[in-house]
Amino acid sequence: MEAAKKGPVAVTGSAGFVGSWLVMRLLQEGYTVRATVRDPANTKKTKHLLDLPEAPERLTLWKADLDDEGSFDEAINGCTGVFHVATPMDFESQDPENEVIIPTINGVLNVMRSCKRAKTVKRVIFTSSAGTVNVEENFKPVYDETSWSDMEFVRRVKMTGWMYFVSKTLAEKAAWEFASENGLDLITIIPTLVVGPFIMSSMPPSMITALALITGNESHYSILKQIQLVHLDDLCNCHIFLLEHPEAKGRYICSSHDTTIIDLAKLMKERYPEYDIPTKFEGVDETIKPVPFCSKKLLDLGFKYKYSVEDMFDGAIQCCREKNLIPLGALKEESSGVKHEASACNGRSDVAVSVYLDPFAM
Ligand SMILES: NC(=O)c1ccc[n+]([C@@H]2O[C@H](COP(=O)([O-])OP(=O)(O)OC[C@H]3O[C@@H](n4cnc5c(N)ncnc54)[C@H](OP(=O)(O)O)[C@@H]3O)[C@@H](O)[C@H]2O)c1
Repeated sequence: MEAAKKGPVAVTGSAGFVGSWLVMRLLQEGYTVRATVRDPANTKKTKHLLDLPEAPERLTLWKADLDDEGSFDEAINGCTGVFHVATPMDFESQDPENEVIIPTINGVLNVMRSCKRAKTVKRVIFTSSAGTVNVEENFKPVYDETSWSDMEFVRRVKMTGWMYFVSKTLAEKAAWEFASENGLDLITIIPTLVVGPFIMSSMPPSMITALALITGNESHYSILKQIQLVHLDDLCNCHIFLLEHPEAKGRYICSSHDTTIIDLAKLMKERYPEYDIPTKFEGVDETIKPVPFCSKKLLDLGFKYKYSVEDMFDGAIQCCREKNLIPLGALKEESSGVKHEASACNGRSDVAVSVYLDPFAM
């Protein structure tokens, strides 16, 4: 790889699930990385970044907030590439417009204005979401990059995560408009549910959904009903692939597997018998079919996925267990109604009860 290709590049939301793995991969690829976080002094959120082997030589932390106009200027000035990964991910927000939707839209514009002012940025990669593609009343037989979610339907039904679907859709559209008006080279990546091992220390938002069959978080079952998946490592490799590929253009779906809650429950029951995995779901027909997401555009460019669904869940579950984020086995209910683990959780069953029953309490 040529030196000119190795940055510096900026990663927003670098302490999060996707951002931190992307920083790790970029460093491994020889890039100099400027990682933005809201609070560089918060070691709980930055230790996993600073502990990366290449960090002392090629990683710097920069303070920036999506809500503060111009706060990305310093980190982005001089960068050749920018990965805009940060997004508010609070599905339980009490003020979705002001806490999720507006900061997401203003945030992407804020980052893109910094890119324009810098004059050094050759390409911006925006991590979008499948929530911008297929949230509508009746599913299409297959989804590709031409499809957009139906905002009227989302705002009317207000399903779990609705504010996130609105925020990402409006933000991606705003990004495209800004790029075309200002001549910025923008690529958007559309990951489906991202699963896999991770380096951050707290429970990543997408693991709350992905591991809902283990934690019994039923409000997330509707998201898993007909779900598509991609491994975190495949997604981060795809980000770097699209930054570097000279012919990359437009939106790219990054999704390797289509499945259903029925098939996921079967796989998990067989593979992780120590958990009490449900197999029947209200309103879900046993014969329900997956809704395919097509990533032909990405594959035609030469990208290859490396991981299976088993790899995704094995990695995620092992990682969550090591970090005491999920129990080692099924929770047993006592007559008092309090749930306890059947087996010990690295000697920390005190933490377990509150965390497992309400992952958002993290
Ligand atoms: N994980 C998935 O399944 C999935 C699927 C599709 C798309 N995506 C996309 O992938 C990206 C990363 O998601 P993730 O799963 O890594 O979520 P995450 O772990 O919650 O990371 C999001 C990051 O965004 C940052 N952030 C939130 N509000 C911010 C603000 N006001 N200003 C600056 N930074 C802010 C947070 O920074 P702090 O550390 O400072 O709190 C956090 O590190 C998002 O754009 C998401 O839409 C994820």
